[in-house]
Amino acid sequence: MELLCIQSQEHDKLPLAELKAVIECEDMELDISKITEGLILLKDISDENSDKYYQTLVKRLGYTHEVDEVIFKSSIDDLERDILAIDWSRYISKNFAVRVKRFNSPIDTVAAERKTGSLILSKCDNIKVKLKKPDSLIRLIAYENTVYIAIEKFKLNKKHFEEIKPHKRPFFYPGSMSPKLARCMVNLSRVNSGDLVLDPFCGTGGILIEAGLIGCKVAGSDVNWKMKNGSAINLDYCGITDYRTFNVDVRELKMYEKVDSVVTDPPYGISTSTGDIEGDEIFNEFFHSIYDNMKDDAYLCMASPHYVDLNPMIEEVGFELVEQYGIKMHRSLTRIISVIRKKNV
Ligand SMILES: C[S@@+](CC[C@H](N)C(=O)[O-])C[C@H]1O[C@@H](n2cnc3c(N)ncnc32)[C@H](O)[C@@H]1O
Repeated sequence: MELLCIQSQEHDKLPLAELKAVIECEDMELDISKITEGLILLKDISDENSDKYYQTLVKRLGYTHEVDEVIFKSSIDDLERDILAIDWSRYISKNFAVRVKRFNSPIDTVAAERKTGSLILSKCDNIKVKLKKPDSLIRLIAYENTVYIAIEKFKLNKKHFEEIKPHKRPFFYPGSMSPKLARCMVNLSRVNSGDLVLDPFCGTGGILIEAGLIGCKVAGSDVNWKMKNGSAINLDYCGITDYRTFNVDVRELKMYEKVDSVVTDPPYGISTSTGDIEGDEIFNEFFHSIYDNMKDDAYLCMASPHYVDLNPMIEEVGFELVEQYGIKMHRSLTRIISVIRKKNV
């Protein structure tokens, strides 16, 4: 079985990095092939694993818009013949819609949707077209002259990332990152459901929410008690129950158990927001303090501004850098997302 992932193109590397991290930590046996930016093919999935992998991907991914199961690989020229050869009763029981997604392809979207719809209708009794919320969504994904005939069996909850934006939560404070980036960072930290994730600068809880929603236990701490309380309010609002929050300076942090991963967005720039720690020193203090709170081989995914060189600090404390990505925020600020691992000594 093959799955096609249609990904966000808001960043050139993060969506694929997130997908690879999930495949790695979920121990998925498959081959990844990038067709073009925003379109990734997952191949060689056994029938036994197919639904399990599919459901895991739609539950976890932030920067992927849609996952579809490939029914047949066709071409613009052979599309009509191949559509007619498919036994559609296996895929459609009541109603359906056909939607075309193009990647650098000359396919005529409207004509292909109409033609495919009428060919399918001509082959099946007792089904009809339903354009809004169909039971079966048939996807034609065209890359150049190739057309993948696919079906969306499980939907990603795209609405979640809109509905949970920082200003829509009961406790709001400026500076929280987008839920999609928070989800991506949780995934880059290679955690699985049931693992314990820590955010020692939890603020309003944006990262903890995303970790909680994929089934992790979460712990958050913040030097500011209002933030600690606000995080709890937001976690309750999202229905997350397996959490603990603490009001503690990162330098004093001593966890009740070692954590499986740390995902965080430390404060930078303004000394008043760092609990009296001067400028970039917050990063150094953070690395030293967090090290003993992490299990061996645990991952840390963090954001930082481009002008802070984390590398010497990472080395000195006993971490190693795994991957790093830049997100341009504006002309004078690039946010760096670093994936770091605690070395097993
Ligand atoms: C950039 S915000 C985190 C935003 C968070 N990801 C969210 O979704 O709201 C940084 C947080 O670090 C906290 N903080 C600053 N200095 C700290 C320190 N020394 N120890 C622990 N927390 C600190 C601030 O109170 C602030 O809430």
